[in-house]
Amino acid sequence: MAGRVPAFIEARRSIRAFLPDRVPRSELDRLVEAACLAPAPHHSRPWRWVVVDAPDRKEALARGMGDRWRRDLEGDGVGPERVDELVAASHGKLTGAPALVLGCLTWEGLDRYPDEARQLAEWGMALLSLGAAVENLMLAAAAADLASCWVAAPIFCPAEARDALSLPADWLPHALVLVGRSDPGYTARARPPVPLDELRAFG
Ligand SMILES: Cc1cc2nc3c(=O)[nH]c(=O)nc-3n(C[C@H](O)[C@H](O)[C@H](O)COP(=O)(O)O)c2cc1C
Repeated sequence: MAGRVPAFIEARRSIRAFLPDRVPRSELDRLVEAACLAPAPHHSRPWRWVVVDAPDRKEALARGMGDRWRRDLEGDGVGPERVDELVAASHGKLTGAPALVLGCLTWEGLDRYPDEARQLAEWGMALLSLGAAVENLMLAAAAADLASCWVAAPIFCPAEARDALSLPADWLPHALVLVGRSDPGYTARARPPVPLDELRAFG
């Protein structure tokens, strides 16, 4: 163990190109179960998971988030051709993945506080636990020989993602994971070594 990161941690890479093969829902369910074994504040499970594998639902989600991103980019002053290019690339990435797993947060099970600071801290804990859950999901995918990639999009437009899929009002999408069989032609980006002396201090 000393001197080596466990192989199952190293094995997970962000893979952004997939074979068109469907992933059986039973396999996707195992990934969601793995996600739900993540640590969470005071024994809550403040996550909801939406498996999106039907082409029309993927299209609806990609379009709902893409329309919002288009408006944001235009508001930022990005030129129309570049906007088209970026939105089309994102749309292709989402609809090209065999399955999307959308991680949402809910207040169910979380504590409520009368002041904003603690309320925000509670939500922050839920977000941290969602990150742990997503990592579990991707590690389980790698162990099952499935490729995955976390996509940031919904954190910028949770309401649009929720409405695109007609989700309950209290499910707030925050994390999206593409899942499928890896395109054998795809090579994961080079992974730089970890500069431990810069990133770690002894307290
Ligand atoms: C919160 C979060 C958001 C991410 N969003 C994207 C994204 O929108 N598109 C993408 O291609 N990769 C995205 N990634 C993947 C990172 O680019 C990737 O994890 C990083 O480059 C390290 O590569 P590795 O996962 O292969 O180790 C995201 C990762 C995290 C944790």
